[in-house]
Amino acid sequence: MSAFEYRNGKLHIENLPLEDIAREVGTPFFCYSTQAMVNAYNSFATALTDAGVKGTICYALKANSNQSVIQTLAKAGAGADVVSEGELRRALAAGVDPKKIVFAGVGKKPSEMAAGLKAGILQFNVESLPELEALSSVAKQLGVTAPVAFRINPDVDAKTHAKISTGKAENKFGIDIPSVRNFVERAEALPNIAIESLAVHIGSQLTDASPFKDAFERLAKLYKDLKAAGLPLKRIDFGGGLGIQYKDETPPDLSEYAKAVSDVMQDLDAECIFEPGRFLVGNAGVLVTETIYVKESTNRRFLIVDAAMNDLIRPSLYDAWHDITPLNQPAPDAEITPCDIVGPICESGDTFAKQRPLPEVKAGEFVAMESAGAYGAVMSSSYNTRLNAPEILVKGDQYAIVRKRIDYDTLIKQDILPDWLS
Ligand code: LLP
Repeated sequence: MSAFEYRNGKLHIENLPLEDIAREVGTPFFCYSTQAMVNAYNSFATALTDAGVKGTICYALKANSNQSVIQTLAKAGAGADVVSEGELRRALAAGVDPKKIVFAGVGKKPSEMAAGLKAGILQFNVESLPELEALSSVAKQLGVTAPVAFRINPDVDAKTHAKISTGKAENKFGIDIPSVRNFVERAEALPNIAIESLAVHIGSQLTDASPFKDAFERLAKLYKDLKAAGLPLKRIDFGGGLGIQYKDETPPDLSEYAKAVSDVMQDLDAECIFEPGRFLVGNAGVLVTETIYVKESTNRRFLIVDAAMNDLIRPSLYDAWHDITPLNQPAPDAEITPCDIVGPICESGDTFAKQRPLPEVKAGEFVAMESAGAYGAVMSSSYNTRLNAPEILVKGDQYAIVRKRIDYDTLIKQDILPDWLS
């Protein structure tokens, strides 16, 4: 059963009508389903088990780092993939076991490395020699050994949006395969480094299984070669990237994805790590907004809503599609007309959808922008001095505000006037 469905003419999240929450909390707001997140986690874990793959699912916090989301997934069994000291602190604060935390990212600072080393995390995914040298020197200062994964750039086209594609040679990510041996030699000479793992992540929102297969095969071959050459590897990190359905995409199903992993794991004696973000939370959340005005011009109808690009930037940044669903169920014979759904921000990029076929939505009525659980709230800003959209978590027939809307005073007081102005 989906976590979002019409019941008695009202769009529900689990057992609650979203409209009731909208009236109590005010719009816009993000709303997440516990059931949808836990189901996504369990289906990912089950697909791996069914394919005979043993591994740890390290939830990529960047998709949605609300403490309650992290904790919901951690309770289901997830570890964490973090990319900053802030995310590391969030994972630890939510109770994630440090031995299930991987630290990724091309630009970790020494202070961030120190935080990870002090916490005793599972591994640092290293992407360059200067980064490795910095990690070695921080670990030496602290008198510990840094567990390292080399993030490999397999030069595979993920066939996804250019801005979220990471596995081609021209991208800033990873170590290219021809350089790896030289890299290993130089790494082995560094103190306080234990090379334990290889990692890959070729991009996000992949809807085709073949780039995964290509990348995993290249990674597995390299793993075998390096191991045969005496490198004491014990883990492979397959990254994240599994796509979800926003519109009419058909992302690889979980069993196909798990098979791509088990196929290359056959004769490797290695533990596996996975770093899914979007898959676990994307379709578990919506952004609910109220229509402020319906503006009719000669050839165009605009729904001007109270959410904007500062709340959900994906349509402006990646031309991303999010389904837009009225909270009141339209009559089966409702007339469908195209309209543009836009926010109040003063630039034309503040558009959620153009010429989207929709039943009539009147001013004062609510719509949900779907699939907003991943890369929604985390990418929001206060552009145009707009207040943040609060985040709500639902479980059955209960809801809780898990991040509140801050008030204008708090927002404005973040600025500090210098002596010469006040
Ligand atoms: N691991 C690494 C090293 C990553 O860079 C990412 C995402 C993930 C895991 C999680 O990928 P996922 O499973 O969520 O696809 N803001 C963009 C997405 C950026 C993804 C960045 N890296 C969007 O809104 O589509």
